[in-house]
Amino acid sequence: MRKKYIMAPGPTEVPADVLVEAAKPVMHHRTPQYRKILTEVIEGMKYVLGTVNNIYVIGSSGTGAMEMAVANTVNAGDKVIVATIGAFGDRWELIAKAWGANVVKVAAEWGYAVKPTELKKALDENPDAVAVFTTLNETSTGVYNDIEEFGKLTVNHKAILVVDGISGIGAQPFYMDKWNVDIIAVGSQKGLMIPPGLAYLAASPKAMKVVDNNKSPKFYFDLKKYEKAMTKEKMPDTPWTSAVSLVCQQAVALKLIREEGIENIWDRHKKLSRAVREGMLALGLKLFAVENPAVVLCSVMVPDGIDGKALMKKIRDDYGISMAGGQGKMEGKIFRIGTLGYTDRFDAIMGVAAAEMALKDMGANIEIGKGVKRAMEVLIEENYK
Ligand SMILES: Cc1ncc(COP(=O)(O)O)c(C=O)c1O
Repeated sequence: MRKKYIMAPGPTEVPADVLVEAAKPVMHHRTPQYRKILTEVIEGMKYVLGTVNNIYVIGSSGTGAMEMAVANTVNAGDKVIVATIGAFGDRWELIAKAWGANVVKVAAEWGYAVKPTELKKALDENPDAVAVFTTLNETSTGVYNDIEEFGKLTVNHKAILVVDGISGIGAQPFYMDKWNVDIIAVGSQKGLMIPPGLAYLAASPKAMKVVDNNKSPKFYFDLKKYEKAMTKEKMPDTPWTSAVSLVCQQAVALKLIREEGIENIWDRHKKLSRAVREGMLALGLKLFAVENPAVVLCSVMVPDGIDGKALMKKIRDDYGISMAGGQGKMEGKIFRIGTLGYTDRFDAIMGVAAAEMALKDMGANIEIGKGVKRAMEVLIEENYK
């Protein structure tokens, strides 16, 4: 018998109460009963995002929400700034270019965050930029950006601030309205604790003005269609058939999120990620994130002489835990331990233990137990409850 776990930075483990919700009979989506549940999800997402803006519920993975943000704000030939610190930041560039944008790139070396001063320089040099696209938590490197500071720069600029919060939302501090974020894109399979398949967008009044003037061709992802559906018969609706079961699951997960409290959830992620980071350091391993280490995951350098891909395979197949390897240019060079979503103290300890045992099996020069000991000490120091 091998019990299986996910400790990837998405998809993540789903609580049992949320899992069973999907086993219930499918509701019809054009009913007051369903629209009441959709309303709960929208209100719950406003709470999670710290916003009074409309929430648009989309049947797609997170990338669909990213594309929807671009398709509704960028006209061919528009200038946009992409502030990127890894593979997912670079995805903004790919999508923006696919929609005909002229991209000015502000890129930090992987392992680092974009400095607000660098973004300020780009905004000053490009007063005609219509949008800044960036990432809250860069999952490929395990580094987060200072979105609050970015918002202080775009609030007095023509450009709207569009943030990929797909892995960061529900795990780390985020206040859409207070931080002047104009569009946030979110995915369901991470901090929101349901399976993959749903995405969300929220858009500020400044963003909606840009959307109103957008001429790019679109249909399924036309935000105006979603906006119209939101106010139908005084109750929110979706323009197309809703992903009914996922929305019902999300309503249950959002109840759990409200019960715990979003700020307590951010604090839990901070403590768990610190336990994993310090566990790795105690083993003598090096961390990849140089600045702003993520609370969503811990990115660790694969020790010299160890095959990073084989390490991930061993942890998955021999120990039953799916973690994540490196992406793009870091493939095989780092591994990433997720502490995202439905994760508790023994998950963090288990992740450290599995990494230790698998590395030992592969001949790494580590002293078994040192990482787990430090992770436990951190959780005690943090008074984790
Ligand atoms: C920061 C970030 N952006 C975008 C994505 C892409 O989301 P999806 O795979 O749901 O399309 C991910 C998924 O890992 C992510 O972590």
